[in-house]
Amino acid sequence: MIAQETAVAAPPAGSPAVAGVVVLAAGQGTRMRSAVPKVLHTLGGRSLLGHVLAAAEPLNAGATVVVVGAGRDLVEEHLAQIAPSALPVVQEEQRGSGHAAAVALDAVPDLEGPVLLVNGDSPLLRAATVAALVEAHRAAGSVLTVLTAEVDDPTGLGRIVRDADGGVRAIVEECDATPEQRGIREINAGVYVGDAAAVRRALARISTDNDQGEQYLTDVLGLLVADGARVRGHVAEDPDDVLGCNDRRELAARRRTLNDRVLDDLMRSGVTVVDPQTTWVDVTCAVAADAVLEPGTQLRGVTTVAAGAVVGPDSTLVDTEVGEGASVVRTHSLQAVIGPEVSVGPFAYLRPGTRLGAGSKVGTFVETKNADIGEGSKVPHLSYVGDATIGAGTNIGAATVFVNYDGVAKHHTTIGAHARTGADNMFVAPVTVGDGAYTAAGSVITSDVPPGAMAVARAPQRNVAGWVRRRRSGTPAAEAAAAAESRAEAAAGGRSEASGADTDK
Ligand code: UD1
Ligand code: CA
Repeated sequence: MIAQETAVAAPPAGSPAVAGVVVLAAGQGTRMRSAVPKVLHTLGGRSLLGHVLAAAEPLNAGATVVVVGAGRDLVEEHLAQIAPSALPVVQEEQRGSGHAAAVALDAVPDLEGPVLLVNGDSPLLRAATVAALVEAHRAAGSVLTVLTAEVDDPTGLGRIVRDADGGVRAIVEECDATPEQRGIREINAGVYVGDAAAVRRALARISTDNDQGEQYLTDVLGLLVADGARVRGHVAEDPDDVLGCNDRRELAARRRTLNDRVLDDLMRSGVTVVDPQTTWVDVTCAVAADAVLEPGTQLRGVTTVAAGAVVGPDSTLVDTEVGEGASVVRTHSLQAVIGPEVSVGPFAYLRPGTRLGAGSKVGTFVETKNADIGEGSKVPHLSYVGDATIGAGTNIGAATVFVNYDGVAKHHTTIGAHARTGADNMFVAPVTVGDGAYTAAGSVITSDVPPGAMAVARAPQRNVAGWVRRRRSGTPAAEAAAAAESRAEAAAGGRSEASGADTDK
């Protein structure tokens, strides 16, 4: 039997590892109970589909075909963003994974050689696992190789049926399995490498004679075995790799596993993660050695953290760059650049377009947006800095608002270098404060302040003497005022008599 197997000649050296990649992503994913197609649900900063495509990307396949169906407009739109060179192919009716594979291969009729076929809902699949599968397939000269795994709980998955010699004979779906087959713990990962021509021929022959009345891609394996073709199973090194994602509980579990992997890699590379249970880092982030992630930290998107920076506790950074030695405490940040040795928070909100120069500070209850804050400058307390440029070495007083919006358009404020602006200022944009200028506390700055000037823009103070006695008589305020007045009178009398009679103590 083994001797009669048909095998495939090795591809010429230097050609891509596979000719094509087919991702099956047309299913609705009913068990997600979602208006969003299953493959668009996200974990670790990518969609399910994005993870699968990322795992296949290093293969450099000539063609990547994604079978879309349920929510196809949304999936196609997403695909155009994340993998514009991939070809979406519509499976009008979801008649099973085998039908989906046939639709995909029909769309690329010239494709020949090894093809990777992969379910779109296996987000933990790693590039290394895919590469090992492809290499095992090539090395054995197989016609079809299926990725398998030994799992503790095979419920719901296709079982790998092997013969007495250990050769793979068939894949049996759970609903079609005998009680004995259900006991098998080696499962089909839903990832295959097959010779395109052989798979096409077998797909043309699969039936719907099964419990679900569907065309099973898995039946291709049994058909090829019956033909005497060389079919192999390749056991995944890490069984987590092959875990699918069919409902929200599985999505949460996969997200946790993926995050554990990301954090393990970071810790191995020299990052301190104080509390891995409450720290979440997207696969698209980069954190340098000797950075510290405090509890409750989330790094998302293309966030980067440089060496020696400390982020957290309780901070969420999205698409944010954190410089060397910076400290970011209890902060929410979107598309901001935090320079080296900068101090942010506690309780800061950095919005898109924020750029904090080296050694600068954005302190407590401060919000910034489209703000360029110069080296060593400080906005320590309770302020809104929107649409602003602040030079180096400047200090912005507490409770300052950059009044950037007139109800119709946004305007810019420029503050020079080494300025000292008073507490509780309003900078009504557009307005410019020159280098080295000062502004008085409580000022509403509506016109430009020249360099080195002191601007005072507030009403002069007026005290109306005796107002409380006249208008609020009988109140504790009036009593307190009266007491203070008599103490002051006594003190004044005492002073005038100081050189004369004894005073009554
Ligand atoms: C499938 C395998 C099973 C394997 C498991 C691994 C089949 C028959 N069974 O089961 O052996 O253990 O994956 O997770 O393949 N799809 C389409 N069009 C369709 C039907 C499905 O594109 O008409 C896509 C789905 O979007 C999904 C993939 O094919 O990405 C697998 O379909 P799914 O229904 O999730 O199959 P499972 O029951 O998980
Ligand atoms: Ca599935």
